[in-house]
Amino acid sequence: MLTISGVYAGYGGGDVLQGLDLEVPSGAITCIVGPNGAGKSTVLRVVSGLLKPRLGTVELDGVRLDQFGTAGVLGKGVAQVPQSQALFPQMTIRENVLLGGYTLRRDKQLLTKRYDRVAELIPIVAERSNDKAGNLSGGQRRMVEIARCLMVEPSVLLLDEPSLGLDPISLTGVSQLVKDANAGGTTVLLVEQNVRLGLSMATHGVVLEGGRVALEAAAGDLMANPEVAELYLGGAPSKAPAAAGSTAAAAGSAPAARSGDASTKR
Ligand SMILES: Nc1ncnc2c1ncn2[C@@H]1O[C@H](COP(=O)(O)OP(=O)(O)O)[C@@H](O)[C@H]1O
Ligand SMILES: [Mg+2]
Repeated sequence: MLTISGVYAGYGGGDVLQGLDLEVPSGAITCIVGPNGAGKSTVLRVVSGLLKPRLGTVELDGVRLDQFGTAGVLGKGVAQVPQSQALFPQMTIRENVLLGGYTLRRDKQLLTKRYDRVAELIPIVAERSNDKAGNLSGGQRRMVEIARCLMVEPSVLLLDEPSLGLDPISLTGVSQLVKDANAGGTTVLLVEQNVRLGLSMATHGVVLEGGRVALEAAAGDLMANPEVAELYLGGAPSKAPAAAGSTAAAAGSAPAARSGDASTKR
């Protein structure tokens, strides 16, 4: 369990996180959503050790993380997938992934074992191992970035907007990869601006507003929550109560109207 307690943190111009309390259960995929500027990325920065909280604590299974920097936090098993453009374009996929295991470099056997495991989980690594990273598409790069992080076999993987800038096919690939990593035992904490995608990947959902948790629930329940649907999913889900029925109907029933189309593809 990753536990964030009473965290206040910011960048010098006042606190962005305002007494944040959040529990990230082990073995789950927790997704933080919320408006721009709510402090979502800041939460990840505090957890990964990039930003020290002014007050409050971050603990992983009872071990304090908040007084370590990024290297210390990584050493405790928490790895953040960096923002895109983090690969060395002139180096091969294999070299880029192996860099993730830099701390294991003296144990060649372990390094090879980890690499093989990562390559098995993420086929693009094996398929393009000798190709330069600069030749990959955005989605492929994102997967190799995740692969590189998995070299340390983190117990917690942090991802900030993994869907950003990806085409629909890459989205599916990255989303599946996150689920696979989780199925392999990694706890995932991710931030998504694509609320629908994020919550559909996740087991737990958290709505962050003004640096605090506004809502928290099973991801499916959060997606079905009318308030969340209204604010983040572009309309009500299947609103049964006698609301303004006629005006909402057009947008709300659009998917159903095309259901014939959709079913032929399945
Ligand atoms: N490096 C920084 N220096 C100063 N202010 C920052 C910095 N990064 C973020 N902020 C501010 O902190 C607030 C929260 O940012 P962030 O955590 O990135 O929000 P989110 O990821 O939810 O969009 C915003 O008002 C943003 O302008
Ligand atoms: Mg952000």
